[in-house]
Amino acid sequence: MSRVEQVKAKERDAVKPAKSAGPQALPLWPGVIRYYWDFLPVERKECIVTLHEGNTPLLRCRNLERAVDPDLSLYLKLEGLNPTCSFKDRGMTVAMSKAVEDGSRAVICASTGNTSASAAAYAARAGLRAYVVVPQGNISLGKLSQAMIHGAKVIEVEGNFDVALKLVREAARQFPITLVNSLNPYRIEGQKTAAFEICDHLGKAPDYHFLPVGNAGNITAYWKGYKEYLDIGRLSSLPKMMGFQAAGAAPIVLGRVIEKPETIATAIRIGNPASWQGALAARDESGGAIESVTDDDILAAYKLLADSEGILAEPASAISVAGVIKKQKEGIFRAGDVVVCTLTGHGLKDPDIAIRQSAQPIRIPPDLNRLKEFFERESVR
Ligand code: F0G
Repeated sequence: MSRVEQVKAKERDAVKPAKSAGPQALPLWPGVIRYYWDFLPVERKECIVTLHEGNTPLLRCRNLERAVDPDLSLYLKLEGLNPTCSFKDRGMTVAMSKAVEDGSRAVICASTGNTSASAAAYAARAGLRAYVVVPQGNISLGKLSQAMIHGAKVIEVEGNFDVALKLVREAARQFPITLVNSLNPYRIEGQKTAAFEICDHLGKAPDYHFLPVGNAGNITAYWKGYKEYLDIGRLSSLPKMMGFQAAGAAPIVLGRVIEKPETIATAIRIGNPASWQGALAARDESGGAIESVTDDDILAAYKLLADSEGILAEPASAISVAGVIKKQKEGIFRAGDVVVCTLTGHGLKDPDIAIRQSAQPIRIPPDLNRLKEFFERESVR
């Protein structure tokens, strides 16, 4: 066997231990409910609404380690690779399945975009009606287009997310519509499976877990997941939970409601998070922190991810990497620490930002000489 063949055979044996003459059995990932069913409240199999969300890559990032701190083991949890391209699908499969189990006909949510996209898609799959209330002018086009094409009734409100959330909470009280924001406890149940996956992939909990904080459901959910794994003896330690908010939308950091939150990261443009207490508990029980970084820090991390690792995450997601950079400068890490950042949503949700942060395309006539001139300027020979 040649050297190349030997390497290939070794890799193949590592990922596919079972050999057979015909096609290899490649198990179908069943989605988070069936895989982690013992931990989830759904009771009836026929009510499961799934797009086979979950099992997202946990990517080791050597280039980022070199750029940020070569002594860290840095992993990204790519939640933008869920079916509607954000982490919301984990919670939505459980919330929607329970809505079906409970005989609901319609769901409603307020959203900065991703929840509405996920709710619309899962409602379409379940045959339920979806109503989504979004802040007018402050939701990225990708997210809005998802909600619309999946047939949700989109209601744009003149106000921010906090205003929209207040409205839908009241609507869900007055009409027979199921609220599928993360105030719905089934959303948190589903989202905690991301923590299970990280531990199942690493074989232990990370030392630090960095993630964005908006309405604060996700940090609450991860912490619940880690604690449940500890309680059943699958872990011997817990991570420090490191939540990050944008400086212009940092109510938890400042300890007060922000009436007019502002940030380029529209996903986390929230001034009065519903799961505020859950975020504080995650921070305090884990010995972690909830801090803020500026929009410039967010964009620098966004660009670094794209340039150095080939990962396009939305700005709200890049804040977790901006957080690692901030804390590295403060010197909190020890050599060998395992750090996981959740990248909550895909960068294609907001292509305008990608285009604004990049060199613009070069235009030429269809003439080979002009292309040659270009490559000469580039010094490609
Ligand atoms: N990252 C992205 C991409 C998000 O869309 C959100 C929240 C967060 C982070 C923060 O998560 O709210 O659990 O603290 N998006 C919500 C929405 C508010 O409506 O899509 P959180």
